[in-house]
Amino acid sequence: MSQQEDKFRKVISHAKEYGYVFQSSEIYDGLSAVYDYGQNGVELKNNIREYWWKAMVQMHENIVGIDAAIFMHPTTWKASGHVDAFNDPLIDNKDSKKRYRADVLIEDYAAKLEAKIEKEVTKARKRFGDTFNKEQFITTNPRVIGYREKADQAIQRLNRSLEAEDLADVRALIEELEIACPVSGSRNWTDVKQFNLMFGTKLGASADSAMDLYLRPETAQGIFVNFLNVQKTGRMKIPFGIAQTGKAFRNEIVARQFIFRMREFEQMEMQFFIKPGTQKEWYDYWKAERLKWHLSLGLGESNYRFHDHEKLAHYADAACDIEFRFPFGFKELEGIHSRTDFDLAQHEKYTGKKLQYFDPEEGKSYVPYVLETSIGLDRTFLAVFSNALQEEELDNGTSRVVLRLPSVLAPTKAAILPLVKKDGLPEIAHRIVEDLKWDFNVQYDEKDAVGRRYRRQDAAGTPFCITVDHDTLEDQTVTIRHRDSMEQQRVPIPALKDLIREQIDIKAWLSKMRSV
Ligand code: GAP
Repeated sequence: MSQQEDKFRKVISHAKEYGYVFQSSEIYDGLSAVYDYGQNGVELKNNIREYWWKAMVQMHENIVGIDAAIFMHPTTWKASGHVDAFNDPLIDNKDSKKRYRADVLIEDYAAKLEAKIEKEVTKARKRFGDTFNKEQFITTNPRVIGYREKADQAIQRLNRSLEAEDLADVRALIEELEIACPVSGSRNWTDVKQFNLMFGTKLGASADSAMDLYLRPETAQGIFVNFLNVQKTGRMKIPFGIAQTGKAFRNEIVARQFIFRMREFEQMEMQFFIKPGTQKEWYDYWKAERLKWHLSLGLGESNYRFHDHEKLAHYADAACDIEFRFPFGFKELEGIHSRTDFDLAQHEKYTGKKLQYFDPEEGKSYVPYVLETSIGLDRTFLAVFSNALQEEELDNGTSRVVLRLPSVLAPTKAAILPLVKKDGLPEIAHRIVEDLKWDFNVQYDEKDAVGRRYRRQDAAGTPFCITVDHDTLEDQTVTIRHRDSMEQQRVPIPALKDLIREQIDIKAWLSKMRSV
């Protein structure tokens, strides 16, 4: 097992063991690519959502939120292009009977070549030491150049074939690259076929009158169809944004990466309505602004990178992803899309109703252009959680597992621990819980020796442990232990609230966006 696989396996089992994420319907052997959030998971998820909502809605005078229904009129999805174009190219292996996304097979092939390049770089760095120049090495080393050319050619041809909807060529490419099924090892492939990712359902009681519906595959369309409602009732002036968080559903084929790719997931999206012609300026603005939001969480700048889309979705004139270094490598965390007037113009076409804005400065009406930021809540959860999970060697020769969640996001902010279960210490600890619970999510914990309780809270991600001991009876002070540094401080009980608030204050965390 590679180091990456081992880390990912630990992330999944830790998420279960500490009540963060469970397989859906586990007692029935689970449902593939569907997950439930446990008692800690739901708190972390709520905190991430709030962190996003505050940054997007509360901190921008010209952005408001909505909560549209999951069910929408079915013509919405015809207009948006999802009925015709929201497809994945699929291919089956005739021997293993396993189904794959054809584009992912080719992308994995290119990723393997990229990994080989990285290996060559690591080897060369070791060989040349301080004099090593990576840029020079990758542009001159014949083996690296060969790998890069092969990878680029494969991806470019894939993009060309998909653009031209030439699925026969996608299959031919898989054969030429000699890509084998990871399960059977054979190259006995079927033709490539398009598969629509939307889930269908029915509205209505009787079979005759029932209406075919879709579960929404993105939250964005709920915003587009409400564009005029919000603009008029909120007297919004362009540029302005509408934000929304909520469930989306996709019948994903490649669903093997825990909560990275789910069939039911949650998105946090914002559509920013702008004057046509200003889309480049706003695209750059939102790219920078969203990266700052990510960096404010302190997961490390080198864990993020932009990836510009070469193959654009049917609605976009420019698009990029903010990628994060997950345990299985850099992958998409958030998309930033310049959607032009595609969606509003399509809804105008299909409804026959005008979805335009009268611009008083221009003295005319137009269909606004749209800049979209779209981030997966579950993927952000995975980014935060996997980055936080660490195993540390301690100075005394022991080790600990610690979940270094950003304290603003941690499910429980403090655990209150009486040193022993007698002498009046539990009573004081309960009184502290009673006092703090109005401001923070706190937990009372009296089971096991205090050292074990510290370890348990470290692994659950609790930033502070507050221990009540016999000195507390004398001087009304307690020990506060910091999860990350393991430092302990003696503080008066009345000082606890301010001390914790200072560390978890959402305002302080978000204002880091100004300094990054
Ligand atoms: N409205 C635009 C849109 O939906 P997308 O790139 O398809 O764009 C946006 O999705 C984000 O939603 C992604 O960056 C990802 O974080 C999240 N996402 C998409 N599919 C997902 C899935 N199957 N499971 C979990 N998150 C997903």
